[in-house]
Amino acid sequence: QGDVLVDRFGRSKRKLRLSLTDRCNFRCGYCMPEDPEWTPRHELLSFEELLGIAQLFVSRMGVTNIRLTGGEPLVRRGVPAFIERLNELRPLGLERISMTSNASLLDRHAAALVKAGLDDVNISIDSIDPERFRQMTGGGELEPVLRGIRATRDAGLSMKLNAVAIRGENEDDVVPLTQWAMGEGISLRFIEFMPLDARGGWQPNKVFTEDEIITALKQHFIVEQLPRTREPATYYRMDGDYRLGIISTISNPFCGSCDRVRVTSTGEIYPCLFSPVCTDLKTPLRSGASREELEQTIRGAVWRKGRGFVESRGYVERAISMHGLGG
Ligand code: GTP
Ligand code: 5AD
Ligand code: SF4
Repeated sequence: QGDVLVDRFGRSKRKLRLSLTDRCNFRCGYCMPEDPEWTPRHELLSFEELLGIAQLFVSRMGVTNIRLTGGEPLVRRGVPAFIERLNELRPLGLERISMTSNASLLDRHAAALVKAGLDDVNISIDSIDPERFRQMTGGGELEPVLRGIRATRDAGLSMKLNAVAIRGENEDDVVPLTQWAMGEGISLRFIEFMPLDARGGWQPNKVFTEDEIITALKQHFIVEQLPRTREPATYYRMDGDYRLGIISTISNPFCGSCDRVRVTSTGEIYPCLFSPVCTDLKTPLRSGASREELEQTIRGAVWRKGRGFVESRGYVERAISMHGLGG
């Protein structure tokens, strides 16, 4: 299975985040511009090309987990068939196929995704109030998302919920969202707002921090911190056996143990969310580079990965925002 992918700080990469499209049917302010210009379709990697890249990462570089991201991955047609093909990589070392989705199309697709071999899905939901949900998503409807969550459960697909917490926007949703998720028995993680929006809206004082979230929750629940693992979230035990996570990239960065690498839907390698530059994989891929050459390109890009958020502590000068990066 080749040597594991490693960067110059000795962090090995086991998880590949593969973005299938920058398109999305929602317009969350923390993720994309108000009026996004989508990548023209011919610039997207085909499923065949994506599969080739996934195979390289798995068979030659020790990647064990692939997470499909977007934009919203399910706005691209043919995702279940693509997942079926990804399954062919399991004998080569692939252990998990995951997806991150806004759930609005899961009502239609959850059953087919399970059948295709998807192992789990992370679902973004920032509020359980329909009006606030509309504000956060730039006009998105909550009802289809709730239907998507029910369909996911009915299909037997394991899921976690993600909520970005922003001061002045949804900090009073933290408690009701938690109460609802507890009632449903679905694990929820709050995510600190990161400087990855395209609207310049991020400021340090907009970050509703892990400490503040916990303080708010302690008014209503018994909260006890659990020992940290390699996961990006810190977990807390709430009122008995419910587990709630907080991804505190800003107040408590976990860059020192980062095990991810990202490839965008146009074939750019971003070793870090905060990488100022990317490495083009599409051009060599389309001009017939050998597997060895592609592997060297990937290894070089990962080797040059920076320390992470701990280095920039704010916006990084570049064109891409979260919707193109895939989170
Ligand atoms: P699992 O841990 O496998 O469940 O997935 P995940 O949390 O990595 O994936 P998900 O797509 O649900 O991401 C949740 C949040 O974590 C998003 O806001 C991501 O941007 C953030 N995130 C994921 N990976 C990283 C990372 O390597 N660094 C930082 N700083 N944030 C990350
Ligand atoms: N800060 C924190 N999380 C973000 N996400 C998108 N943009 C940001 C941001 N600026 C989250 C989405 C999704 C995950 C992939 O990333 O809500 O759950
Ligand atoms: Fe990894 Fe970069 Fe996130 Fe730090 S900021 S955890 S290095 S992706």
